[in-house]
Amino acid sequence: MTSKLLRIEHSPKLKGELSLHGAKNAALVILISLVLTKGKSCLYNIPQSCDVKNILLLLQQLGALVTINPATNAVEIDTSTIDNTRVSADLMQKTRASVLVLGPLLARYRSAEIALPGGDADLGPRPINYHIHNLRKMGADISTDGTFIKGSAHQLHAHSIILDYPSVGATENILMAATLTPGTTRIVNAALEPEVFDLIAILQKMGASITIQPPATLLIEGVKELKPVEHTIIPDRLEAGSLLLAAAITGGHLTLPQARAYDLEIFLMKLQEMGHNVTTGDNGIGITLQATNAPQAVSFKTGPFPGFPTDLQAPMMVAQCLAHGISTIEETVFEDRLAPHARELMKMGARIDIAHNKATIHGGLPLRGTMVHATNIRASCALALAGLAAEGVTYMSGLSHWTRGYQNLDEKLLQLGAKLSIVDDEHAVAYADSSIAAEKSL
Ligand code: UD1
Repeated sequence: MTSKLLRIEHSPKLKGELSLHGAKNAALVILISLVLTKGKSCLYNIPQSCDVKNILLLLQQLGALVTINPATNAVEIDTSTIDNTRVSADLMQKTRASVLVLGPLLARYRSAEIALPGGDADLGPRPINYHIHNLRKMGADISTDGTFIKGSAHQLHAHSIILDYPSVGATENILMAATLTPGTTRIVNAALEPEVFDLIAILQKMGASITIQPPATLLIEGVKELKPVEHTIIPDRLEAGSLLLAAAITGGHLTLPQARAYDLEIFLMKLQEMGHNVTTGDNGIGITLQATNAPQAVSFKTGPFPGFPTDLQAPMMVAQCLAHGISTIEETVFEDRLAPHARELMKMGARIDIAHNKATIHGGLPLRGTMVHATNIRASCALALAGLAAEGVTYMSGLSHWTRGYQNLDEKLLQLGAKLSIVDDEHAVAYADSSIAAEKSL
């Protein structure tokens, strides 16, 4: 079978208006949260990325009935047929979010047999100790041999959980387990990402009792059962950020009428510091960006919400490569998350120094198209954006990451005027041969 590549040409200023898909990271956990219910739920605005498809397969493996309407991005899920609490290792390894099924299975079915999850493998160590340790504190008996995880829970009990770090996944896993656990569970230092709030919103619709106590404590009063619901997933702030950056680096103009500016405050402030004109609609809904032709260097540090999202660090690095002056990034969430895309951007002509979790970007050098390889979802986005601004043609391999994270992002960029297409990799071989021949003839 021929593998596919993304072929990107230097593109004109991207211009237009686009709607957004539902947030992938909210959709994944919300689909899993349905395990807590019995009956037919309907979710709207579910993006059709490969990660989402794998979570739907996971629900089917548990016995749920899944009906997808691709035309409307609606999914109907009937959980009354769930009759299994084991997920195959093969399916677990396809996404990181699959581990979120542990808490709901233990709370509702008292048993879970899963494997360690997969997902982006090059972001550094991704332990699940906060998930396991705290579910154990709630009474779960969990054993793991480094590959498989086996859990049982005669009766979970409420506990006061203090997270060392506001982990998104650990907050979600414990929160879901706590909804069906008698008594009041506290999660102190909880993650408060917009996707966690969307999960809280659907759990409350199901009948869960959840209170948010400032600054970051969740109080969950366990209930006996949760009912099926209808819910629309929030717009994807990461897709919004990526599209805004595509417009910014090509000197374009973009309006995203559904984007929620309050989910992206620091990111938007950094775009403004670069010199781009960013305006937001009433109540923070809707974002318009008019790019500057002379972007200036900006520096930032990633952090839990409302900090700069680590998932926008890679595409933002491309804008920094093209901005005038020296920018820095401090990556505090996944410490190894700089090198995978920085290395490829350097192949394109960028000058980036990396020391531990800090990158110094010497901006303003022209990027040129070449063969690059994406090794994670957000790196694939960064490299595609770099290709739009680079001279010549860029070919990106590792396309599985692109399709894992985004639904038709290439088609959205095309609508704005980008020049890119998915091609068989024999095109790239021909391109590489002609480049070598051209170099030899010089
Ligand atoms: C989620 C998002 C991911 C995003 C990340 C941070 C999903 C499906 N994925 O990932 O896109 O980049 O939040 O916003 O929603 N940690 C531990 N022990 C644990 C759990 C986490 O040490 O048990 C560490 C991690 O190694 C990492 C940090 O905590 O350094 C943050 O991870 P976490 O917030 O849990 O990220 P995910 O939920 O995996």
